[in-house]
Amino acid sequence: MLSGKNILIGITAGIAAYKSCELIRMFKRQNANVRVICTPNALNFVTKLTLQNLSQNEIGIEEFDVKDFKPEHISYADEADIMVICPATANTIGKVVNGICDNLLTSVISAFAKPIVFAPAMNTNMWNNVFVQENIQKLLKNPMYSIVEPDSGYLACGTEGKGRLASLDKIYQTTVEVLNSIPKKNGFLQGKKIVVTAGGTVEDIDPVRYISNYSSGKMGLALADYCNAQGADVVLITTKDIDATYKVVKVKSALDMLNAVNDEFESADYIFMAAAVADFRVKNTAGQKIKKTNDDEITLTLVKNPDILKDISSRKTHQIIVGFCAESENLLEYAKDKIKRKGCDFLVANDISRKDIGFSSDYNEVYLINKNLDTVKIDRQEKSKIASKIVEEVYAKTGCLQTCR
Ligand code: CTP
Repeated sequence: MLSGKNILIGITAGIAAYKSCELIRMFKRQNANVRVICTPNALNFVTKLTLQNLSQNEIGIEEFDVKDFKPEHISYADEADIMVICPATANTIGKVVNGICDNLLTSVISAFAKPIVFAPAMNTNMWNNVFVQENIQKLLKNPMYSIVEPDSGYLACGTEGKGRLASLDKIYQTTVEVLNSIPKKNGFLQGKKIVVTAGGTVEDIDPVRYISNYSSGKMGLALADYCNAQGADVVLITTKDIDATYKVVKVKSALDMLNAVNDEFESADYIFMAAAVADFRVKNTAGQKIKKTNDDEITLTLVKNPDILKDISSRKTHQIIVGFCAESENLLEYAKDKIKRKGCDFLVANDISRKDIGFSSDYNEVYLINKNLDTVKIDRQEKSKIASKIVEEVYAKTGCLQTCR
């Protein structure tokens, strides 16, 4: 599964360092090439010989142990696809966020412009320390960094609480997910610009109240992630806060979303409209909080929002436009009617009456319908897999058209 992948494991000086030995074996079992760098103090917890045998590579420890014409921190950084810091101590995290490079590992982390997964592990009081928490937040400012948060439980120091290294399965899984999201140099969407909308729009009533919907934005995010992994130039227009390595445009209302889509429209090759756009907005948004009166009723006048999907479909030239619809009854009948009304090239339809798929769920089951009303069912599975099937299916039916235009 990880054949051809180069994983660089950084081990810092915490008792959980012994668990990194098993993590090395998990990556090796999947045929990854694993290299290891230890901080000098980490060798108080694990031996160089153990790590060397498990990784079948020499272990990096000393910064100025130069064997090559290239400085060590550059050569390690060049070779690896991803770094996993396991365990990541409060000390090393503190150095990383302050740009301190006082050993080989911190120097390599600093010179590494690719994804890094941090798996912190420490005593509960250290984890809860306000400065450590500030440093954890700072780590997340780098969009290349992911954190696998520690678990709660019995700690080696004899106390109970948060700080125990997350399960190795979780660290392994996160690493694989991050690896899969790295743009492939030869991905089939190389050279394509793909715009994705996601999340439910928010229509203000007054400064403290709004109209919105239950859309989580997960389907759109999964589409954007997959297109990015396939080498596309991705723009995600979303109402949610997202950290990504591709361009993300945060919007609030349907009108904001329309403007953002218009900005990207001309140069887009594919547009996936997964957002749940509010059909109506409040006619006169109150500038101040609306106060309660003695009346038992209040009337809000709503006006229609522009239909972004219909609008861009009527103006399209070369773009392939994919709409989405969520229905609570008569799914295929309504969807087939909707693709005709909206004029888009494809429509992805899902049934929101089902509790096991849709809105907040990580799973979905959808039908992909084209203009001739040919319908393909994509069975229930994780949204990330549904996203890849939708993109592949749409691309398979239009890729040549796009390349030949
Ligand atoms: N959509 C849009 N602009 C709107 C409403 C919807 O671009 N003002 C897009 C959505 O992003 C989605 C598709 O249209 O891709 C279908 O959304 P849906 O809410 O099902 O369409 P409606 O026209 O609102 O249909 P209904 O009559 O069922 O309300």
